[in-house]
This record gives sequence, structure tokens and C-alpha cells, in this order.
Amino acid sequence: MEIYKNPSYSPRERTIDLLSRMTIEEKAGQMCQVDGRHDPETWIYKKHIGSFLHVTGDEPARLQKMALETRLGIPILFGIDAIHGHAFQSGATVFPSQLGMSSSWNPELLEKVAAITACEVILTGLHWTFSPVLCIGRDARWGRVDETFGEDPYLIGVLAKAMIQGYQGDQLSDPYSILACAKHFAAYGETQGGRDSSESDVSERKLRSIFLPPFQEAVKAGCATFMAGYNAIDGVPCSANQWLLHDVLKEEWGFQGFVVTDWDNIGHLHEDHKVAATLEEACTIALTAGNDMMMSTPTFYEHALSLIEKGIISESLLDDACSRILELKFKLGLFDHKRFPDQGMVSTILGCPEHRKIAYDMALESMVLLKNQNNILPLSKEIKRIALIGPNCDDVQAQLGDWSFGARELAYPEVPTLNYHPEYDPSPIVTILEGIKNRCPHHVQIAYEKGCDLLDENNHNIEEAVETALASDAIIAVVGDTNVLNGEMRDRADLHLTGTQQKLLEALKVTGKPLIIVLVNGKPLTIPWIAENADAILEAWNPGMEGGNGVASILFGDFNPCGKLTVSFPRHVGQQPVFYNQLPGWHGNAYVEMTGEPLFPFGFGLSYTQYEYSNLMVSSSSLGVNDHLTVSVDVQNTGKYEGTEIVQLYINDIFSSVTTPIKELKGFQRIHLKPGEKSAVHITVPVASLGLVNRKCQYVVEPGVFEIMVGPSSRDMDLLKTIVEVVA
Ligand code: BGC
Repeated sequence: MEIYKNPSYSPRERTIDLLSRMTIEEKAGQMCQVDGRHDPETWIYKKHIGSFLHVTGDEPARLQKMALETRLGIPILFGIDAIHGHAFQSGATVFPSQLGMSSSWNPELLEKVAAITACEVILTGLHWTFSPVLCIGRDARWGRVDETFGEDPYLIGVLAKAMIQGYQGDQLSDPYSILACAKHFAAYGETQGGRDSSESDVSERKLRSIFLPPFQEAVKAGCATFMAGYNAIDGVPCSANQWLLHDVLKEEWGFQGFVVTDWDNIGHLHEDHKVAATLEEACTIALTAGNDMMMSTPTFYEHALSLIEKGIISESLLDDACSRILELKFKLGLFDHKRFPDQGMVSTILGCPEHRKIAYDMALESMVLLKNQNNILPLSKEIKRIALIGPNCDDVQAQLGDWSFGARELAYPEVPTLNYHPEYDPSPIVTILEGIKNRCPHHVQIAYEKGCDLLDENNHNIEEAVETALASDAIIAVVGDTNVLNGEMRDRADLHLTGTQQKLLEALKVTGKPLIIVLVNGKPLTIPWIAENADAILEAWNPGMEGGNGVASILFGDFNPCGKLTVSFPRHVGQQPVFYNQLPGWHGNAYVEMTGEPLFPFGFGLSYTQYEYSNLMVSSSSLGVNDHLTVSVDVQNTGKYEGTEIVQLYINDIFSSVTTPIKELKGFQRIHLKPGEKSAVHITVPVASLGLVNRKCQYVVEPGVFEIMVGPSSRDMDLLKTIVEVVA
């Protein structure tokens, strides 16, 4: 038996053997990835394709069988955007959006979410998810903030590790492991004016300080693949950036996996970025920069062959890329157990009660209570009639969010093959209307009115909604945004409530009934009127298939909300970006018209109970760079509900050789407390993590005094403070 077919050899040995048998054509094909619209016969039999994306239903099994019949029988790797569950697949478990899940600050739960996603993806015959997104989401105008873990590099790194571990398991050969993909490398969220895929104007120092650390954590977590961003950095598109893909990622960080371009990044080098006069030149640039697999640039195959023939590139570039791809295929066991879809298990495992339970837990933990005046929530037992009003009460797509059923169809109506599942069955999705009806006690009446369309200003029935509200004891208004206001190519210049939602809310306010607002939205909106006028605000994000049950459980008090914002809410779009870890300035941080402070800051989130912080202590007031700092604080639940509090540790390097953020998250801990219970929380951080990137772009810990801040949010008024000194 050939070595590459023999599982007793290591993936590396098998790769070397297989590569030695491959023709240049087979190598070029191995580096190609196209979507299911392309003719599989040509791609498999004539062009030796390495990977397909967005192939669903019965196709993966059919195409894999074809690939196994080819000369070398190299299996195909199938990729899919299963970024908050296998959400294009009918019946699969759909979790809250990534931004929603980040508000849980719960890596353990996130790992379970990713493991469930991996299991459901594998059963349908696919092997690789283009997740997690490690972009820093700090300008809410950008259309893809809903896909991020928010604005803080440290928290993104922690959550990224958990998700990668969940997808990939302990080893890729585990039967339910899939490949993760850290994307979009790098600084893709920082494009100007929030405009998707434009230039990110960041220096190397800024990259190394803010944008690269989460990706470096992904490498440490063993993330198998990386995706290069659509954007350019300082004039160099990511897929043309040899320094980024090769020097930093592969050499400096020792990344062993492979880099995939984003969708036709090679074509964009020529057509959009215009850094290559021809497509062939674009291929040369992409190859030498360190891209290994070319997503959706079908002509790469011919160009690569012609470049080799002309002697413009060396075959060793193809060898390196193919080795990286093939080694992962071996590690996944694709050559051995083939991982064919299991139709029997698909129907029993996808969306099974155990998986839905985790979707429900995640929905609960991802919701953030932003206001609760006079403890209007949880709903009092005295309330007998509830008016449930608003366009997002009963909207499956707004609830599931982007990268789920319907989202692609909206984006590309002209491309029927991207309509993954025309037969998608939305019935397992519990909307907020259904969740509240299911949960509400028998003696409580629910009257529902949509009130207005989310987009169409001419389509509303505000008068009927007001009548319904007048006949109620309390109003629950569910407003926000929807899929056409989030996602790729859907950046917003304004972040206000669309349609007549604002008018609807103002009319409801006039009724004088308690106004409880549930927000279902992809990303922060500018809602100063709501902050001022609502009695309570529950931020539910895109809460996934169990979102309706989650909202109901929180409103009726079955669960005490504990989520904390991972992204700051601006008061006004003109404040963007309003992230918490700003660099210090000296002319004040206010605008002529308003403060520079966010409406709701990073780390903020209320509970039905209250927590009191006291007795902040540090393990030592003087530390060496190799020491560990333990920060302790007492937290007491002084209210009447048990609950989970997320205790946050921030630091500030008071005087340093370069400007450093006014505060930076360095650690956090979740703690569960019964009413009256008090507990000491200890958070330990290596002093080595208190460093900065200096003018020479080197990471160093500079001796000096550091401010240590602990509390329930990043807001100054919430933080207990002390200092420590780091000595040389
Ligand atoms: C997106 C990626 C995604 C890819 C494949 C691109 O347009 O930027 O995030 O993984 O498409 O669907």
C-alpha cells in the first residue's frame, strides 16, 4: 500500500509521500476552492479541485465519491459559514449571533456551542467552518459588527480560543472535529467610515497593539486555518501582504495550517485594489504573499500553471501550500474514514433537545439588561394584560440574524444556487411572540400588534397598537433592526431605528403604560430616546432559535440576566468610534453638541439583583516582570435574586514611552451569588501581559506604576482603583 494511504504513517509522512506523486496540475487544483455553482465534473476530474464551499444537501456525498475515484483519490474539503450554528441547514441548531454570544463572557458555554456546531456540520458531510471572526468591532456603522466578539482584543482572544477548541476538539481526528478558520486577517473591521472592505489606516504598531493579538491567540489555540481580509492596510491588500501572511503569521508565530483568501481576493487585487495590472500578476502576488488556498478565483488554476511554465514562480510555492492543505486533510482523517454525511443521524441529532438546550442557555446569557427603572422587571404578578407590540416580535429572520436561513437569499436574490435551502423549515424557531405566549401564566392575556414595518415608513398601524396598549397593564415593545441592515455591503451611515419604529414608541409612551423595550438587532443602535423614556430595556441581539424562550424567561423572572456589553453603544452616530479603550487626549473628550461618552459603555449590564464591590487588594504592590499579579475584591449580592456577576479587571500603564489606552481589560471572572452571599474574587494575570508595543514595534513591559481597576463595567464610576509598581 502506498504510504499516503496507510494510516499507520503520520500525517506529515503521508503528505510528503502524496506530494511526491502529484503533478503540477494536481497541485494547482488542490489550492482551488469554488462554490457549488461550478460544474463539479470539470472541477473534480479535470482540475483536481481541493475544496468546495457552500455545497449542501446531498451534494457533498456525491462529489466526495467522485473525488475518491480520481487517480490519487484525494478527498475534497467542504467549507461552510457555520458561524453561529449550522444555520443554513434546515433543522440545525441556531445560536445567537457571535456578538450576542460574546455578551455572555462565557468561554465554557461558547466551547459547547462550537462543539455542537461541529457535530452538526460533520453529520451533513462538511468539514470546515469559516469561523470565528476575530475582527475588532468598534465602529457600529460597519455592516459586520454582529459577526464579531465586540471591541476588546483581550476578550476576543479568550472567546476565540474557546470556540476554536469547541470546533476542533482535542485533536482533528476526533470524529466530530472540524477545521476552524480565524478571519478576517487583519484589521478588517477598522476600515474607514465603517465602509466594508476599504482601507484600514493602521500602523504596524497599532496592528501589533490591537488587531493582531486575538489572531496570535488563535494560533496558540491551534487554529487550523486563517482567512485573509478583503481590506488593504497602509496600501497593501491583505492577500498581497507577505509581511502579514508569511513573515508574521507563518514565520514569527509558527502557524502550521493554511491560509485561504477571502472570496476572490485575487480578482480584487486586479479589479478593485488595482495593485496588479492583470489577473496573472494578481496570482503571482497572492502566491508569493503566502495565500495557500484561493477562494472563488476559478482562473487561478490556469494562471498558476502558466506562471510555472513561464518560470515566474517556483513549484516550491505550490508544494508548500499543498503540504499545508493535505496535512490537514490527513489530520482530519478524510483519507481514512472519509466522513460521509450520515442522513440517519442528521434527522435525530440536528436541533435535538440537548443541542437546543445549549442554544437556550446561550440566548439567556447573551442578553443584556440596559435599564430597569423601579425594578419593573421581572414582570409583576399583578400584570394581567400585556400588549406585545413591534416588528420584531414575530420575525424569524431578524431573530436569527445574518449567516442564517434567508440572509444569503436577501443578499444575492439573483443567484438561485446560493438559496441554500428553499425548503428551510422555520417552524422550530421560537419567536418572541411564541416564547411569551408559551411562558405566560394562564391568567395573563397577551394582545399582539405588529405596529409597523421595520423598513417601510408607509406601512404601519400605530393607532391599533396604541389602542391595544391602552387596554393593557404593560407594554412589551420589540424593535430593532433586521438582516438587510446588517452584513456584508450593508454598512450604515445612520444607526437610528428605521421605518416608523420611533414614532410607534413615542405613541406608546403617551399611553402612560409601563414601556418595556426588547431590542432585537445585529449591533448597537443610537437609542438615546429609548434610554430616557423606556422603563426597561433588554438587549436581546439576534438571539437565535431559542431567542423567544430566552426573552420570555428573562421577562417573567425565571432567569436573572447577566450579560455585559462587549461593544459600546454610541448616543449619536457622529461619536463613532466610541470604544472604551481610547488613547488619552488633552482637549477634553466632548463634542460641541454632546459628550464623547457612550450611551452604554463596554462591560455594562444590569441584573435583577445588586452587587456591591469592596476591599480591593493586590498580592503585592511591587512586582517584577516575571511575576504574577493577583487582584482580589469582595463582591456581595445585596439584592433579592440570585445571579451571576462578571467581575472585570482593567489596567492602565500610567506613564509609558508611547501613549497607551486609558484602560485595558486584562482579566475577568464570572461569579454566581445567592441573595446576601459575599465572596472574594481573585483574578491572576502575568505581569508579562501588562506590556505595550514600543516605537520599535517590540512588545515590552515597561517598569513603572500601573493603575489597577476592578468593577462591573468599564465606566470610571463603577471601578475600584489601586496601584502597583512594576520594577525592572
Ligand atoms: C466573507 C467571508 C466568508 C466568505 C465565504 C466572504 O464574502 O467575507 O467571511 O467566509 O465570503 O462565504
